[in-house]
Amino acid sequence: MKNYKDTIDPDNIPLHVAIIMDGNGRWAEKKKLSRLEGHRKGADIIEPLIDTSVSLGIGVVSLFAFSTENWNRPASEVSGLWELLALFFESKIDIIQEKGVKVVVSGARKRLPAATAGIIDSVISSTKKNRKIVLNFCINYGGRQEILDGVNRWLHKRKEGEVLTEKKMRQQFYVPELPDVDLLIRTSGEYRISNYMLWQLAYAELVFLDVLWPDFTSQHLYRAICEYQKRDRRFGAI
Ligand code: FPP
Repeated sequence: MKNYKDTIDPDNIPLHVAIIMDGNGRWAEKKKLSRLEGHRKGADIIEPLIDTSVSLGIGVVSLFAFSTENWNRPASEVSGLWELLALFFESKIDIIQEKGVKVVVSGARKRLPAATAGIIDSVISSTKKNRKIVLNFCINYGGRQEILDGVNRWLHKRKEGEVLTEKKMRQQFYVPELPDVDLLIRTSGEYRISNYMLWQLAYAELVFLDVLWPDFTSQHLYRAICEYQKRDRRFGAI
């Protein structure tokens, strides 16, 4: 593979990179392993991804870990994913602290298993002062649900005659301080957004990579950033 790292312009690094980590199931199937083995291998990618992202100066990485539609999978896969998430945070908390990662979580809280919700809350709280990078784990997340939850929250406290603006809408999101996404990466060769960060992706550059998530390496991130740097971002202007 070409050495993409050396061609990266350090002055044009995306502030917010969002990733749809797709292909764990196909990776496992190819290796005649269980789908959960694929998810486990997928979780192992996150630590090196943090290191590469920090070294590039990326400010925020959003990871689509569990979608509102993933509940439709077999119960054993769903419970396996919840256990994996809890185990990930339990076993990585020291490393996350050492690396200066601030963990935030986007998603609807209802339906989260109590054990997973508990560990998530403790990681959010113990990393809130970290400043090296923000890792936004999207868990029980759907883009439409985020907008609906936000509108309903706002309606609840709306004063008579008050109208909703973009600025007020942003304040209703799960993690209001997150900037718009600059670069969306989806692995596994699928060309879809799958209900991910619909509002925040409005002007994102989309890069689709033909690699299954468990095989994702720093080289793939470098390649996606090189592709991003070739794009002419006009935000609707000319
Ligand atoms: C998509 O692959 C991936 C998911 C639905 C879950 C993503 C979860 C992980 C990467 C592991 C756990 C994450 C953390 C943060 C610890 P797929 O199952 O849809 O793959 P397929 O399309 O090949 O079947």
